[in-house]
Amino acid sequence: MAREFNTVGVVGLGTMGAGIVEVFARNGVDVVAVEVDGAALDKGRANLTASTDRAVARGKLDPADRDALHARVTFAVGLDALRDVDLAVEAVPERLDLKQRLLAELDRVCPPGAVLATNTSSLSVTEIAVATERPGQVIGLHFFNPAPVMRLVEVISTVVTAPEVARDVQSLCVRLGKVGVSVTDRAGFIANALLFGYLNQAVGMYEAGYASREDIDAAMQQGHGLPMGPLTLLDLIGLDTAYQVLETMYQRGGHDRRHAAAPLLRQMVTAGLLGRKSGRGFYTYQAPGSSRLAPDDLSPVAGAEAAEPAPRTVGVVGSGSAATDVADVLTAAGVDVVAVADPGGVPAADHHHQAVRDLAAVDLVVVVGPSTAPVIDVAMATGRPADVVGLHFVGGTAARARLVEVVRTVRTSPSAVRAAHQLCAALGRTAVTCGDRAGFIADALLLPYLNDAVRMLESNYSTADDIDAAMKLGCGYPAGPFELLDTVGLDVALAVQTAIHRELPEPGLAPAPLLRNLVTAGRLGRRTGGGFRDHAG
Ligand SMILES: NC(=O)c1ccc[n+]([C@@H]2O[C@H](COP(=O)([O-])OP(=O)(O)OC[C@H]3O[C@@H](n4cnc5c(N)ncnc54)[C@H](O)[C@@H]3O)[C@@H](O)[C@H]2O)c1
Repeated sequence: MAREFNTVGVVGLGTMGAGIVEVFARNGVDVVAVEVDGAALDKGRANLTASTDRAVARGKLDPADRDALHARVTFAVGLDALRDVDLAVEAVPERLDLKQRLLAELDRVCPPGAVLATNTSSLSVTEIAVATERPGQVIGLHFFNPAPVMRLVEVISTVVTAPEVARDVQSLCVRLGKVGVSVTDRAGFIANALLFGYLNQAVGMYEAGYASREDIDAAMQQGHGLPMGPLTLLDLIGLDTAYQVLETMYQRGGHDRRHAAAPLLRQMVTAGLLGRKSGRGFYTYQAPGSSRLAPDDLSPVAGAEAAEPAPRTVGVVGSGSAATDVADVLTAAGVDVVAVADPGGVPAADHHHQAVRDLAAVDLVVVVGPSTAPVIDVAMATGRPADVVGLHFVGGTAARARLVEVVRTVRTSPSAVRAAHQLCAALGRTAVTCGDRAGFIADALLLPYLNDAVRMLESNYSTADDIDAAMKLGCGYPAGPFELLDTVGLDVALAVQTAIHRELPEPGLAPAPLLRNLVTAGRLGRRTGGGFRDHAG
């Protein structure tokens, strides 16, 4: 029989703690909610009230249940209130010294049998555990943001965590309606180890002026169906917390440069731009704590492209089914199409002249191709590079894709970019603009994450099922990395990752050997009946 935890203490009622209190109280557990001072306590209480009121307004919580939920929560300043708890969960800022001191204090205050849990995202649970006299009863209990919504809890056992403690905490997860995934103590566990490199890379893209914040977010949300874009997610997580997580991941995870926090992140934290909780981060919000955006200086001006007439005749350069798909979509929208086979990378003079002649009369030239070859190669071959943009339909075929990346090369004119946006509007697609780099926005951010997931599997840290579950239930992704790789095709993923690595030869970006081996073995995913998993029939 698993042990029941009937009274639980939650320490720190910020972004995560208030949500964790709600999870316990909603599921019939009495909670003692603790903060450092009266002001922080009031804020934590207000966080909880706002969240439960929202749930009532959305019809997800009965008003009577909300009142019962609040009746189960006692608020207190200081740890003395935790003398009778069965379990204490800390959600204080992500700093090792702070958490060690706090755990040592909890060890003195809480009853000898109580389990002590940390919600750390990236710190060593082992180092936190050994700050107490009961390391066998210390465990990682990593909730996801927002805690009442996300179903995943990573349950982290250290080398000294007692097996029955892990088992009891797993049963508690079931009682809370959560899915507990068991892992050992590695930086970032499953989900954050796969998430934070991606988030940091998105900040780097934005910082470099590669694409706007709106376009980076739209590329991931609409292109790959994620619940929110990376910069919006960073604002939700809190930039201070995200910065701390990256710092630890960098230190503990072998100094992978992709975890070295983008300089902009540090500057924003120093300037007090912490995201939603402070009212401003990458975006501006109507008030601190609000999820509603307020327009600011960086907000796009509606109709900026309207001055440009939509192109009537478009040259489509490319070969294969992708180019045919795009030509079909354009034709269906009433655009005249001049199709030209891909002259990119083929410097033969007659090829070049053929392309120039065919494209002489078109308003705009679009290059359709995989996100592996630079658009500029093809643009130069057309003889009129100023009029050439790349169009990358993200998320399947051109007919199905909702999002188009408009790729501007170093020679593309601003009017060609505007014309491409008009064209996308005529096609009913969302368009984003980016530079001419391998993977553009959406694949450049997605593929390294998929590759990291393969490396994680390869290292036997976790299973394909648990990794897929972690990303779906912890981050709200529509599919886990292995499901996605099997759908996209392992060969396609390998080609894009190879192009990304060729352009940026970071060791962490090298294609995972397991990915390469599966491709060599002909296991390309659903198409071939098997990839990471077998797909019968
Ligand atoms: N923000 C996220 O998305 C997220 C997700 C999962 C896990 N986490 C982890 O949760 C923990 C908390 O992160 P957060 O983003 O909620 O931070 P936060 O800054 O929003 O909240 C931290 C809270 O802890 C309180 N606090 C500080 N010292 C305290 C003490 N000695 N006693 C009691 N309360 C104290 C602060 O007043 C503050 O309200 C971190 O370990 C973080 O890595 C965060």
